[in-house]
Formats: sequence, C-alpha cells, structure tokens
Amino acid sequence: MKKICIIGSLHWDIVVNTNKIPKKDETASGSKVHYLFGGKGGNQALSSNRYGSDTYFIGRIGKDNFGKKILKTLKKSTIDIKQLQVGSEKSGMSVAVIDKKGNYKATIVSGANLSIDYKKITLKKNTGILLLQNEISEKINLIAAKKAKEINCEVWINAAPARKINPKLLELIDVIIINKVEAEFYKKSLFQNKFNKITKVITLGSKGLEVQFPDGVHKKIQAFKVKVKSTHGAGDAFIGAMASYKLRGNNFFSCLNYGQAAAALHISSTIKQRNKILEKDILDLIIKNKT
Ligand code: RIB
Repeated sequence: MKKICIIGSLHWDIVVNTNKIPKKDETASGSKVHYLFGGKGGNQALSSNRYGSDTYFIGRIGKDNFGKKILKTLKKSTIDIKQLQVGSEKSGMSVAVIDKKGNYKATIVSGANLSIDYKKITLKKNTGILLLQNEISEKINLIAAKKAKEINCEVWINAAPARKINPKLLELIDVIIINKVEAEFYKKSLFQNKFNKITKVITLGSKGLEVQFPDGVHKKIQAFKVKVKSTHGAGDAFIGAMASYKLRGNNFFSCLNYGQAAAALHISSTIKQRNKILEKDILDLIIKNKT
C-alpha cells in the first residue's frame, strides 16, 4: 500500500467548555478545560494512521513543554516522525471555546509551525497522497506540492483557515476540502473555469457535504445523524479517515462516506472515547445507516 505524507501544523490545544460563547467585551464562565494534542496537520495524521494508513508526518515543534506533550502523543502512534523538526521557537498552540451545542470559536498561535525548514523535506517515492492544510507557510505547501508531482503523488489540501491561495499551488492540487465558511471565502477564486480539474469537497456540518468533480458531476451527500458532543476537530477526523480509505483503493464516494462516518463518531464521542474509535465502528455505522 502507498504511504500518506502529511505536512502541517502541530498545536497544543486548550479547549474550554462554556454555557455561552462570549460576545465582544464579555467574559463568560467556563465549566471545564481540556489540554489536547491538536493542529490540523497533527489531527489529520492521527486520523489517517488510526484507520490503517502508513503515515509519515513533517512539521515543527519547539523545545518547550507544549512541544514535549505534542511529541509524546505522536510517539504513542505508529506515525513515522523521522522528519519532525525541533527548533528554538515556541510550539504552536490554540485556544477553543465550545458551547453546549458543540459550536466553537478558536484562535491559533502558529509559532514553530511557521519555521519549517523546506530543505529538510523529503517525499518518499511510494507516497500516494500528500495532505496539506493552511496552518503552515504557503511556501512550504508549494514546494511540497511540486515535489509530490515529481513522484506522481496526488496533492490534497484542506484549505483551512481560509487564505488566498497562490494559483501556482492551485494548479498542482487534485482535491480540496473546505467547510462552508471557507467556501464562501474561496467562491470567487476557486470556482473559476481555470481550476476545474480540482475535486472540491465542501463540508456542511449536520447538512452533510457537497462534492464537485472535474467532469462536472456535482452531488450532495447527507450526514449521519448523531447526537453532537463537540464538533472540534471533526473536519480533521473526516479528512484523515477519507484519505486513508482512498489509499486502500476505494472509490471516492465510499471514501466520502467512510470519512463522514468517522466524523460522526468523533463528534458524538467524549474526548477520551475518541482515541478508541476503530475502523470496525465506522463500518458498523455505515451498515446501520443503510438498514
Ligand atoms: O481542526 C481543529 C484544529 O484546528 C485544532 O486542533 C486546532 O489546533 C486548530 O489547528
């Protein structure tokens, strides 16, 4: 089986549960705080690795305590982290506030993620998918995407958070995954004729997703109906699982379905339960949904 390479962000996340997300100039009382491994790159790597992909990760942390905690989590997985860089910068972190319905607002501080040394990046020949996000510098994304094309490897990008994408990078992308907020930002640039060869996946939360293929086929797919505990990291669970299933030779529609089931289990589980979700649980949910 081909490998998946994820180049992206690593954060130490501080996640606060609150009855109410504070408005401007307001302080709200929280009920719980969680300290978690995060970063879209790191989360997507854990997800693809959990569901059976041979995953290697390229990113950067600092030598501080947050960096040590991030490293400890990565070492518990079977992700190949030989290309993980450690620098003198502060490790990346994020703060998220989540209300009772699972809605959240978050801010990231990228730190070391923005200092990845491109000279130390090597893509292995048998890499099938290179998965990128927008939490590291675009220069790294572009260099990596060029390297991927030299070895005939697909380039997928979760273009989040939304930012202007260099057309040179867009030309190298096979699959782009964005949520509805990001789709609004990209609607002028991404949906031009010029970028018709990109498969676009727009996730719509409880309303499912939309997919637009290069041949013009456009489909809406329903979400699995589950009771939401928190949507934090759901997109990452979806993308990692979907990419992992694709590397195993499955067609794009079943990969979308598989990713959606992984995300449904993620949002309906507690933080502790999430680490125990297995492929079997995903397949069970898909079968249950069909019957
Ligand atoms: O997608 C969720 C992730 O986004 C969090 O883990 C946070 O660190 C931010 O990068």
